[in-house]
Amino acid sequence: MSDLKDFPLHADFETVLVSESAIRRRVKNLGAEIAAAYGGEEITVVAIINGAILFTADLLREIPNPIRLDCVRVSSYRNETRTRGKPRLLHSLALDLGGRHVLLIDDILDTAKTLTFVVDLIKKHRPASIRTCVLLDKRGRREVEFEADFVGFQIPDKFVVGYGLDFAERYRNLPCIGVLKPSLQNPPEWA
Ligand code: XMP
Repeated sequence: MSDLKDFPLHADFETVLVSESAIRRRVKNLGAEIAAAYGGEEITVVAIINGAILFTADLLREIPNPIRLDCVRVSSYRNETRTRGKPRLLHSLALDLGGRHVLLIDDILDTAKTLTFVVDLIKKHRPASIRTCVLLDKRGRREVEFEADFVGFQIPDKFVVGYGLDFAERYRNLPCIGVLKPSLQNPPEWA
């Protein structure tokens, strides 16, 4: 999580937790780890949108295996910095997962309610295997026991934005991951 100098601190950030260059390096290594784990097998990737979009797009370009891509949309955080209630499926799978090697990708593993929910959903399709990959892991916040197979970075219990992660749909386009200033974490005009 070094090289903070390569991105000028965004005016809304209190701090940068993971720099653009650190993300780039780690995503490259993750791609190699995943390719090694699957050998030459075809992988059916399921990405949880919108948060995992940027991570998935960069990661898949580092994996030489044949890949099929599907996406699911799951509700969770809304415009709040704390999760509320159960995840709900807003957009389901389109590809057949039966007998396939499925790699489920999300931006961040927090309480683990979302990944547990989607893993259970995928299991109903009887895949040959299912592994999970997350860019960020806030291990201290688990409400459900869960370990991802591939993890980019362990991070502390801070609400983070950037590189796909949003607050009220803002900041997804930032190339690094940071913590918002506390004064910006509940602006009523964004709801
Ligand atoms: P759970 O708690 O189900 O959370 O593991 C996974 C989903 O919650 C969102 N999430 C965050 N989004 N900054 C965000 O922008 C965060 O710090 C954060 N923590 C959790 C995210 O959508 C993830 O898919």
